[in-house]
Amino acid sequence: MHTTLMPGIDWVGYVDWNIRDFHSYKTFHGATYNAYLIRDTKTALIDSVKKPFAAALLENIQDLTSLDRVDYVICNHAEQDHAGALSVILPQLPNAVLVCNARCHETLSRYTDTSSWRVQIVQDGETLSLGENTLTFVNTPMVHWPESMMTYVGEKKLLFSMDGFGQHIASSERFDDELPLEQILDEAKTYYANIVYPYGRQVLQVLEKAKGLPIEMIAPSHGVIWRKNLGAILDCYQRWASRTAEAKVVILYDTMWESTEMLADAIYAGAVSVEGVKVEKIHVRKSSLTQIATAVMDAKCVAMGSATLNTLPMPTMAAVMNYLQGLKPPVEHTLAFGSHGWGRGAVEEMTTWFEKVQWNPVSEPLKCRWRPDAELLEKGEGIGKILAQKALE
Ligand code: FEO
Repeated sequence: MHTTLMPGIDWVGYVDWNIRDFHSYKTFHGATYNAYLIRDTKTALIDSVKKPFAAALLENIQDLTSLDRVDYVICNHAEQDHAGALSVILPQLPNAVLVCNARCHETLSRYTDTSSWRVQIVQDGETLSLGENTLTFVNTPMVHWPESMMTYVGEKKLLFSMDGFGQHIASSERFDDELPLEQILDEAKTYYANIVYPYGRQVLQVLEKAKGLPIEMIAPSHGVIWRKNLGAILDCYQRWASRTAEAKVVILYDTMWESTEMLADAIYAGAVSVEGVKVEKIHVRKSSLTQIATAVMDAKCVAMGSATLNTLPMPTMAAVMNYLQGLKPPVEHTLAFGSHGWGRGAVEEMTTWFEKVQWNPVSEPLKCRWRPDAELLEKGEGIGKILAQKALE
């Protein structure tokens, strides 16, 4: 199976229709591991796939050429969704030299025995001629790992962008003009929120480097290839990497016997009464960390509520706090709310956590014992309004 990007350059990767959990990232629509074959005077494979799909990759290559014709395997990134198959395919490619940077080689060598591999170490900006096509290697540290790099083919104005600009979508289509743009951008946003978000500064550096290159096609390692909507995805990356919070309030909560949910509903009612603000209410036990991170990524205000369970927030809310702490979304204003019975603790724990992540509460926590009364619900509505007004500032 292969798809032609342009004469002599083909996609030879693997569509993983069944994956639903990618190291905790909920891939509701599957994923792809994109590998590409450039057939020129010399033949180069750009990246590989997960180890279990090595045979499919070899078969795809053999659809186009014999395995002994592959001269180079470019490894842009050592993470195992792209490099896991190397230990299987390299012994099957008798004339191939692995091309990667020194840091990538070091990382690969931690995962697997690379002592028998023929390796060519390249520096940032170094080129490799395949004949008509010249590969230029561009280091892009932390997009997504320290050793990550991208490979640019100047003659074709084609950038193999590794994880950058990727999306987790399994589809029979390979290009961005073959699926609805809104769907692809939604998936790209989810991908950015959950994989790339902490590295905005490094993404901005990549975008700066990209400005100096004529680019007409971006071929990432996941999802569809950008050949029509490059402006749209580059604009999104510029915005996301700038960590710009929008006029948006997200209300996250978990509830035991609906009391915390009543408070969430009151806050929601107040927030939506303010025009011009987007408001999302998410029951975290009925959602996923992946969706929650995507919702919070560009929210200026986040309210967090939980019932107290054994003096702590509900386990799902604890997981949300853990996950968001690592991703560091630029939330400015917050509110803790929740209910308790004979012992308290959830609201207090969340309040302490806000200090740690530097989210500023707009008021004292909203908390009730057993059930919120009408007065407290009215207060919640008022605080919801304040949150929405803060989101507009
Ligand atoms: Fe798709 Fe960072 O690997």
